[in-house]
Amino acid sequence: MLVRGLVLAGAIVALLPALPAQAAPKVDCAKVKCLALTFDDGPGPATGTLLSTLEKNKAKATFFLMGKHVDLRPALVKRMAREGHEIGNHTWSHPSLPTLFDEEITQELRATQEAISSLTGRTPRMFRPPYGNTDDRVRELAGDEGMAQVLWTGTTLDWKLRDQKKIKSAVLRLAKRDGVILMHDVVPQTVQVMPSLIKELKKRGYHLVTVSTLLKGRKLTPGTTYP
Ligand code: NI
Repeated sequence: MLVRGLVLAGAIVALLPALPAQAAPKVDCAKVKCLALTFDDGPGPATGTLLSTLEKNKAKATFFLMGKHVDLRPALVKRMAREGHEIGNHTWSHPSLPTLFDEEITQELRATQEAISSLTGRTPRMFRPPYGNTDDRVRELAGDEGMAQVLWTGTTLDWKLRDQKKIKSAVLRLAKRDGVILMHDVVPQTVQVMPSLIKELKKRGYHLVTVSTLLKGRKLTPGTTYP
């Protein structure tokens, strides 16, 4: 009977869906100094290294993924979700959205939503327009797909700098309480400088959180822009 009970308990546990890895107590950004690091255009070849750095430092980040890169590196997308990072939509192929027809914009967003949700079981609630190029039409069409538009408070231009020291000092200069910092995990130097950068940010009192955690319990409304 006992053995049967144990087997049954094991079977029930096996049937439970995998819980998101946010077992750690939630950071309250109303009480502590928070900063959201965000990474666009991935997942790329170095994204696994970045995830290991974040894990080692108990830091959370937000990734705005390109659908065609999701297709290339599905295991990294699953790992992001499993390790408690937030995933947003950065279109399938990175076009400048205001130049497209409505149906093309919707297609870029929807195909990416489907690729991400089929891997993670969760449909992104935020998107970031490539190059930051957007307008009311883009924002509303994304709203129809259930997403808010997330921009940034500071952009590092890491893709142009391509230098660890310069990227680090750009982030430290741009960092501020409740800030949203734009970087790219497809830039190798950004991934390489992250261990020392995170160490310095923590020394300055920052808690590194997802964009949703920055919202202090408020929910992103589809069709709106943040921050
Ligand atoms: Ni981009």
